Amino acid sequence: MSQPFYVTTPIYYVNSRPHVGHAYSTIIADVLKRYYRMAGRDVYFLTGTDEHGDKIVRASRKEGLSPKAYADTISDIFRAVWPELDILNDQFIRTTYPEHQKVVRYVLQRVYDKGDIYFSEYEGLYCFACERFYTEKELVDGKCPDHKTEPERIEESNYFLKMNKYQDWLVDHIRKNPDFIAPERYRNEMLAFLKEPLEDLCISRPKTRLEWGITLPFDDQYVAYVWFDALLNYISALRYPDGELFKRYWPVAHHIIAKDILKPHAIYWPIMLKAAGIPLYNQLKVHGYWNMDDGKMSKTTGNVVDPLHIKNLYGSDQFRYFLTREMAFGLDSHFSEPALVQRINADLANDLGNLFSRTVSMIHKYFGCVVPESVSGAETDLDLALARDAIEMVNGARREIEGFAFHKALMSIWQFINKLNKYIDTNAPWALAKEKGGRSRLQTVIYNCMEGLRIVCGMISPFMPKASQRMRRYFGLAPDQAFSFSEISEWGGLKPGVVVPKAIALFPRVELEKETEDISSGKTKERSLPRKKEIELEDFQALDLRVGSVLEAEPVPNSSNLLKLKCDIGEERRIVAGIGASYAPSDLIGKKVIVLANLKPAKLMGVLSEGMMLAATDKKRCFVPFIEGDVRPGTKIC
Ligand code: ME8
Ligand code: MG
Repeated sequence: MSQPFYVTTPIYYVNSRPHVGHAYSTIIADVLKRYYRMAGRDVYFLTGTDEHGDKIVRASRKEGLSPKAYADTISDIFRAVWPELDILNDQFIRTTYPEHQKVVRYVLQRVYDKGDIYFSEYEGLYCFACERFYTEKELVDGKCPDHKTEPERIEESNYFLKMNKYQDWLVDHIRKNPDFIAPERYRNEMLAFLKEPLEDLCISRPKTRLEWGITLPFDDQYVAYVWFDALLNYISALRYPDGELFKRYWPVAHHIIAKDILKPHAIYWPIMLKAAGIPLYNQLKVHGYWNMDDGKMSKTTGNVVDPLHIKNLYGSDQFRYFLTREMAFGLDSHFSEPALVQRINADLANDLGNLFSRTVSMIHKYFGCVVPESVSGAETDLDLALARDAIEMVNGARREIEGFAFHKALMSIWQFINKLNKYIDTNAPWALAKEKGGRSRLQTVIYNCMEGLRIVCGMISPFMPKASQRMRRYFGLAPDQAFSFSEISEWGGLKPGVVVPKAIALFPRVELEKETEDISSGKTKERSLPRKKEIELEDFQALDLRVGSVLEAEPVPNSSNLLKLKCDIGEERRIVAGIGASYAPSDLIGKKVIVLANLKPAKLMGVLSEGMMLAATDKKRCFVPFIEGDVRPGTKIC
């Protein structure tokens, strides 16, 4: 039976919708699932949602829903987003599932019976947003380091897990198992943290304060602390203690998380497992943050990018490629649409897309759509080098993926793609085609290009499953089957004689402001602008919109874009408009435009503007809607 491998993502809180940060962890897990499956391993991939605790109660109240109804809604959104990104999770777990709750109570009882949980009075500083107590030392200027708010002092009796008892054991385990926490910086961070004595962990919340949780088996007046509940998902999903899944996959568990939840995973979780007499997970893999211009992408600050929005605009493969290529696992990265567009156009459309279409076109042009045979005797050193490079690339990229250096794996695949492009240029098949006696050399060159592409097609399949699948037919392979490494570990696996379909544009070029067309299906999609808050009719009626007739127009001195207009809107008004890059004054004089007449006056470049003229803008230029017909200036627009 093939060797098992277990990969998990964090289970995401249902207090808000999925964003690019969540998509990254889940895509990485999916790349591993697909990669190890190609390597012949039996991979189990778990993701899901974390649904208890105060955060969720508060989020549900805002929506006017019960916590359960609210959790159901958001959990469904997470569940539905993953197939859109071609994620192949084997299970989606929710902490509100009865099977999970049973496991949490079982483990709590075990640890309690062992004597590692005790009851005590506690007074401490509590951050409600983090749902945890802070020590004075952990605060920054007296405030929660994450939420920048002052914690509240609360006093209550609670249950505690003895952490201190296991501290030396944990340090020893981390020291003896250098790969337990990776990359190394996070391992070092935890070892440094463990130099100070660990405080015992408060693992309960009184129901008087919070009811939305799992009732403790030994005290029905309390619910479990949300982290004690959530971490156990990794084994409840495997039907701990007796499930076959648990026996098979738990010994090879790999948790993928970002650094925000390092401590619960590197400290609480191993101690919980140890206290419950359960073997530890195999490895914790910690990545950095996706940042935006204004800091970490986070639902707390609201600067999030919706993965579906990106997928609909640019395609799932393109998005997956960008995330895995751009971030060095372990370090922070910056998310921006211009960078994404740049990668799509340069790496995907130019490098790979062109290589593919030019090779396929040559097979059509020179060989009647059929893959030619490489002719022995017509080979040169260039061919041998290409074959060697291909196999080196496969082995090198595999090592990089296994070491979580996904960006390096992609870099080496792209180096090979560029070698193939160069190979074509150096061998100039178009010249060989004209040369007398050039036919056997031409056959060999084209065969090699196609064989190189076949190997590339296999190597990109964990990252870009759709494109890889679309390419498979060109090598005579069934599109619905997955590659295995045995197919691409040797040069020459491509069968001559395959009939090759017409080339398609694998990765069409994109433009940044492409908003109305979905490139993957060609269908018209909704515009990409985020929706603004809904308003009432009265809010709209508060706007004094009128027809304005432009009487005069002239540039504002020293400004490249501002025009000063005199408009008749039933009375004369001066309006300054930023449309000078798109319109000359003479384009406007005598025209009727739409004016917002009750906007608070403001000075622009020292000129007072007493209203606003409406225009559509797409950053490159603007378009003023002119009103045709014999309408009187000052007429109301509603
Ligand atoms: O912490 N960059 O859930 P959560 C990269 N329920 N990854 C990011 C990210 C960013 N800017 N923002 C979020 C929880 N993530 C708990 C976990 S596990 C037993 C319980 C990803 O919804 C990353 O994987 O806040 C991070 O660890 C996780 O989402 C946090 O998700
Ligand atoms: Mg979070």
